[in-house]
Amino acid sequence: MAIEIRTQRLLLRQWSSADLDPFADMNADPRVMEYFPSLLSREESDAAVGRIRAHFERHRFGLWAAEIPDVAPFIGFVGLAVPRFEAHFTPCVEIGWRVAADQWNRGYATEAARAVLKYGFEIIGLSEIVSFAVPINLPSRRVMEKIGMTHNSADDFDHPLIPEGHPLRRHVLYRKRRE
Ligand SMILES: CC(C)(COP(=O)(O)OP(=O)(O)OC[C@H]1O[C@@H](n2cnc3c(N)ncnc32)[C@H](O)[C@@H]1OP(=O)(O)O)[C@@H](O)C(=O)NCCC(=O)NCCS
Repeated sequence: MAIEIRTQRLLLRQWSSADLDPFADMNADPRVMEYFPSLLSREESDAAVGRIRAHFERHRFGLWAAEIPDVAPFIGFVGLAVPRFEAHFTPCVEIGWRVAADQWNRGYATEAARAVLKYGFEIIGLSEIVSFAVPINLPSRRVMEKIGMTHNSADDFDHPLIPEGHPLRRHVLYRKRRE
């Protein structure tokens, strides 16, 4: 399967074995993982790529590896995923992103996410795409807002995969419906 998405500056593509090292570096970077319960070990990072690949096999879409052609072979991922948990808004398809810290605030996540939303609505035919984050993850919320997603506090939820009492358990949910 070789579904790729091109944007003005980025190529969203399938994962290669060369992505494992830089992805593990990102997942071990406290800046990137500030709003996650823990850093990922090398084994956990590789296992995450295994799950992403399996997701592509199963659903024909997923979290695409992002590169800046001729500039940076891997800067993170942006894509679509079916969450592994049940909540009041599931089943659903979420849009998500993780970008290496040295590439932040250049508009890459937003640029990729706009193209991924379009793919989700126009190619896959989804009627709604959601996204979620901890309330203090302002950069991620900003990307959600920039791509036209909206937040209703009645949708806020406790993430089922994060233990009760954990400070990162509460999440805000954003939604966007196909126009
Ligand atoms: C969220 C993330 C993917 C954004 O990537 P990015 O390529 O830097 O995103 P963009 O450049 O498209 O947009 C970032 C926006 O956040 C804003 N921002 C950055 N830091 C901010 C802060 N501390 N407070 C408020 N806004 C902030 C930027 O100014 C920019 O908005 P603007 O264009 O209106 O100025 C990146 O920060 C990241 O990988 N974070 C760690 C992983 C993560 O949290 N993933 C999401 C989990 S829900």
